[in-house]
This record gives sequence, structure tokens and C-alpha cells, in this order.
Amino acid sequence: MQAEYRQRREQLMTKIGNGTAIFRSAPTAVMHNDVEYTYRQDSDFFYLTGFNEPEAVAVLAPHHPEHRFILFVQPKEREKEVWTGYRCGVEGAKERYGADEAYPIAELDEKLPQYLEKADRIYYRLGRDRAFNDKILKHWQRLLATYPKRGTGPIAIEDVGILLHAMRLTKSPAELELMRKAAEISVEAHNRAMAITQPGRYEYEIQAEIEHVFRRRGGMGPAYPSIVASGTNACVLHYIENNCQMQDNQLLLIDAGCAYEYYNGDITRTFPVGGKFTPEQKILYEIVLEAQQQAIAQVKPGNPYNAFHDTAVRILTEGLVELGILKGEIDKLIEEEKYKLFYMHRTGHWLGLDVHDVGVYQHGDNPQILQPGQVLTVEPGLYIVPDTKPAEDQPEIDPRWSGIGIRIEDDVLVTETGNEVLTAGVPKAISELER
Ligand code: GLY
Ligand code: MN
Ligand code: MN
Repeated sequence: MQAEYRQRREQLMTKIGNGTAIFRSAPTAVMHNDVEYTYRQDSDFFYLTGFNEPEAVAVLAPHHPEHRFILFVQPKEREKEVWTGYRCGVEGAKERYGADEAYPIAELDEKLPQYLEKADRIYYRLGRDRAFNDKILKHWQRLLATYPKRGTGPIAIEDVGILLHAMRLTKSPAELELMRKAAEISVEAHNRAMAITQPGRYEYEIQAEIEHVFRRRGGMGPAYPSIVASGTNACVLHYIENNCQMQDNQLLLIDAGCAYEYYNGDITRTFPVGGKFTPEQKILYEIVLEAQQQAIAQVKPGNPYNAFHDTAVRILTEGLVELGILKGEIDKLIEEEKYKLFYMHRTGHWLGLDVHDVGVYQHGDNPQILQPGQVLTVEPGLYIVPDTKPAEDQPEIDPRWSGIGIRIEDDVLVTETGNEVLTAGVPKAISELER
């Protein structure tokens, strides 16, 4: 992978010309008191370096005569490493991560200016760490003050995310290999979950089985908090308590995905706990499944990004009208977003190093056009939240539908000729879900 990280840096350096790009590692996050969460590197930082330690800064200075890639890292310190683990150190940053030069992070303020003095721009993304943003601004301010003496130096700060995220949007063969692995493990976990679900079991038992598969197969763990939602819990989009006992005649909605070497899977399936859909569940499920399949068919190169969402919305709205849950003309209902009471999220998102991955969806009025190598989720759903008040001019909601929540989500790769569903290995046809 080191060759690929280098190639990504070269590609970005071509784009920034005489600028200097600065990247900050992700902060460590506190779980409670002095206990920290497992460290996870910032995705941009990782994409360019593969370096997964905290307290680091990466600099790309394509115009610098000697050092084009510089890493500031935590120095090796025996006593610290005994507690918090291995550090690659300054030498390791050069030897293992290909930095032309490396320094201890404590020398950032002293060493950074030499990489900015001749740059015409600073490429940086404002982050959550205000103090670090401030640090960069102060460096810029100092260079501006001395600009008249040198006649060189950055005259603007530009967001590096725009350039970098356009790169991240199209996955390389090496990235796709990792995404396939994340998908494959996620598929195995969902199949395991289906096999062991039965009335009387608790949602957390299913969660445990899923996450057991993630780790057993070498994944980092869940890509996001696993949702195991039986019955009306499925109507809470981010239900993660997962502590209820599952009953016969309920549906179980599982939204879970594995992170594998920083790449993510994101799958949702909804199926009957006791092996048989009730008539109402089956009717709603068929609508969502149809919406999902038709939406997936819209994922192909040359199609605008919004096509698959629009298709899903249309099919869901038509279905709701057919059942008498909505009333009126389809186009008008869509225009007035009347479906949103029952379908309140978008039909998908880019997927990659981040679960909700970076990349532009829309350029002003023009949607992104799908291209081979992009990966997105397709995840329509219907949620008949109990006690939902119908919109004005809309009918009362028949209680027979109340509390049913359904979502079906797959990870879809745009190919040269259409698409490939990376997560097709989890069944979703009614005949496969009933037993
Ligand atoms: N599980 C997060 C999502 O589906 O977007
Ligand atoms: Mn999901
Ligand atoms: Mn998703």
C-alpha cells in the first residue's frame, strides 16, 4: 500500500501546484476520565499516509527543493510506549512511511514556516480543533506580515477537502479490494444474525453475534453503532439501545456494517422474527423492496446522482397511495414531500473510508454524474411511526400499519456497464426470509 499512498500524495501535489497542504491527525477521544476510545486516524490523513498514530501533522510541499512530504510525529519514548503502545518515531516516519523529512511534533511551530514561506497558498481544511486552526492562521499571519520583505508567501488559504475528496470519491482497485472484504464480512454477519433470530431472544444477543463475526474475521469492529431494532423500535432511525426481547409477529430491522482496514460496509435487512410476515408487514415490505431494486437499477455510469433517490421516492409514494396511507396525485405528493412523514431520510450516501463518505453530491443545480469506481448505499425504507398525525388534507392512518418500520440497504459499486451490488449475499426476497 505504501506505493499507493505515495501515488495519492503525488496526485494531490499536482493539484496544489506551488501550494503547501497541511493535514492534522485525528484527536484521541475520551471515553471517560482518563480512559480513551480505540484510536482511529482521520480518514484524509490515513488516505494520504496510512499512518495511524495520533499527535501527527503531515505536510505536502511540492515546491520545496528537498522535502515534499514531511511528517511531524510523536517521538519514540520508552516510558510512554510502555503505557500507550508502539510509536514509529521520527526515523520510522521516514523509513516506513516514506517521509522525506520527519520531526518530533513539538517542533511543528519551529519547522513549519520553511515549508510555507515560498508557497503561494496554504491548503488546509478547518477542523474541530479550534486551537489548531488558530495555529495555522497565526503562521499565515506571520508570513503575511513579512511578505513585503520577501515578496513570496501564501496569499490565501484554500480548503484542501474539495480537491482531496474528489479523489476519494473514486475508489482504486486496492480500495475496492478492501471494500469488498468489508462487504463480505458484513454479509456473513447479517446471515449469522438471520440464522439465530427467533422469538424470545434479545436484540443485544443478535448484536453480539454480528460484532463477533466482525472481529473474528479480522475487521476493526462495527463501522457505526449497530442497530438491532425489533417491532416499533425500527421506527427510531438511530435506535442503538438494542435491549428488547423480540416477539413473534414482529419484524427485526438490522443496520450493521463492518469496518475493515478503515473501509466500511453498511447493510440493512428487515425480516420476520418468527419466520412469517404478517399480511401488513408483507405488503409494506414488497413496496420497499421494489423501491430498492428499481433504485439500484438507476445506479449506472452517466446517470445523475439523484436518479436513484427520485426513483425510490416515486415507488414508495405510489405504494403509500395504493394502500390509502397517502391520498392525491403522485407528482403533487412528491413535490409537496408528503411521503416524508413515512420516509424521512435520503436513499443513500457515498461509502468508503467514512460511512457517510466525502464527495460532492451536487454542483449547484447540477447533480454529480455517476462514474465507475464510485460506491454508494441504496437504502429506501418506510416507517409508520405510531400515533403519526396525518398532514392536513391527508387521511387518518389505519392502525393496522402502525409501528411497522422497514429499511433495505445494500452497498453498490458503479461499474463500466452498470453496477455491482457488493452486499448481494444477504437475502432480501420474501421467499428467502420466511421459514
Ligand atoms: N448506518 C448508517 C446509514 O445507513 O447511513
Ligand atoms: Mn446503514
Ligand atoms: Mn447507510
